[in-house]
Amino acid sequence: MSQPRTSLQGARVLLGVSGGIAAYKAAHVLRGLLAAGADVRVVPTEASLEFVGRATWEALSHRPVLTSVFDDVDHVAHVELGQQADLVAVVPATADLIARARAGRADDLLAASLLVTQAPVVLAPAMHTEMWQHPATQENVRVLRERGVTVLEPAIGQLTGSDTGAGRLPEPDAVLAALGAAITSPREETGAIRRDLAGAHVLITAGGTREEIDPVRYIANRSSGRQGWALAHAALARGARVTLLAANCELETPPGAERIDVTSAQELAEQVAVHRRSVDVVIMAAAVADFTPLERANAKIKKTDDQDAPQIPLRRTEDILRSTVEERGDVTRPAIVGFAAETGSEQTSALELAREKARRKGADLLVFNDVTTGVFGSDANRVRILDANGSEITAADGSKQQVAHAVLDALSAVVRQRGDVPWSA
Ligand code: CTP
Repeated sequence: MSQPRTSLQGARVLLGVSGGIAAYKAAHVLRGLLAAGADVRVVPTEASLEFVGRATWEALSHRPVLTSVFDDVDHVAHVELGQQADLVAVVPATADLIARARAGRADDLLAASLLVTQAPVVLAPAMHTEMWQHPATQENVRVLRERGVTVLEPAIGQLTGSDTGAGRLPEPDAVLAALGAAITSPREETGAIRRDLAGAHVLITAGGTREEIDPVRYIANRSSGRQGWALAHAALARGARVTLLAANCELETPPGAERIDVTSAQELAEQVAVHRRSVDVVIMAAAVADFTPLERANAKIKKTDDQDAPQIPLRRTEDILRSTVEERGDVTRPAIVGFAAETGSEQTSALELAREKARRKGADLLVFNDVTTGVFGSDANRVRILDANGSEITAADGSKQQVAHAVLDALSAVVRQRGDVPWSA
């Protein structure tokens, strides 16, 4: 069985391509995988070569491209490629490929590799809405998911003709992020991704709020939303249903997440209030403004020669994390995870401030990062995960995707330890 990896860097990825018009988008996924440092073998189906030819895959991947179980027989390619892979992704996965994977067919090299591999398998479906919604496809998807295969939700949008609906391949960046989450996920003995969040509905806030001063200016912060996004991808990979409250994030929606865009702290507070009673877990990764202009000017504030710089009076915003904890009261659902970005001061270390914040906020977990080390917009993060008493449970240092899985591991451990899992699988 292949072990979880720290990232796609150095990972052996088998990229299957099946025969749909979206096959060309797999070239973007391939480029992204190579840019992330993966070693990729492309295994197209014969039908897919009608859409994108062998030469494209060989030129882009710098590796030979095989399709049949009779290719490269002396190296037993039909067994070896699947056995050696750290991750198998099929982009796009047609209705026919999904049916063959469910049936356990081995009639071409891609199907045979799917049958052999013990690495996590991610299928990114693309097909017409009718095909996706057909009971046969839906049953195949359900069975594959039960077996531990990750089948991404297709996007809703324009399909090959003039029709629109569910069945569009998620954007390549969203597929790449889902592959990053899959390869870093904890595993079962079989090699499948551990679905310890199956049955859980997780609400995640991400990004940074903006507080308008006038029609052209606002107060913002440096959060990009990447850590919240990584949490959404990780939770989806582990079987959760995810609602993502996105504050000013320019990132592709994770396949399968319900995304609600918000701008200000007040809008975020309203959306959290709408959802927090119905979910099992709330993860507050967004950077929320603590202060907002007392009044927003309706017209642009102008400078004049005879006037000093204007003063902008501010008022406090709602502490959404604290109000969520308070509203929960004595019950344990939803489980609540807060974040703490600290720089420390001359008198008090960043860690000491975070411990104090953990005790003050009362969340089940507080994920602390020292933001003096340049975490914003970067793919790396270093955190310490504290419990409600401020004691350190664990630390994580690596990609935001690895940190996301470490947060979910700690969450899963805390709720299981107290024998009080808020969701039922
Ligand atoms: N948070 C919140 N509502 C706010 C401000 C912050 O819910 N108005 C949440 C953040 O989403 C995060 C946690 O509180 O999960 C800590 O955020 P942080 O900005 O570090 O702390 P503050 O509460 O702003 O505390 P301080 O100003 O003392 O650092």
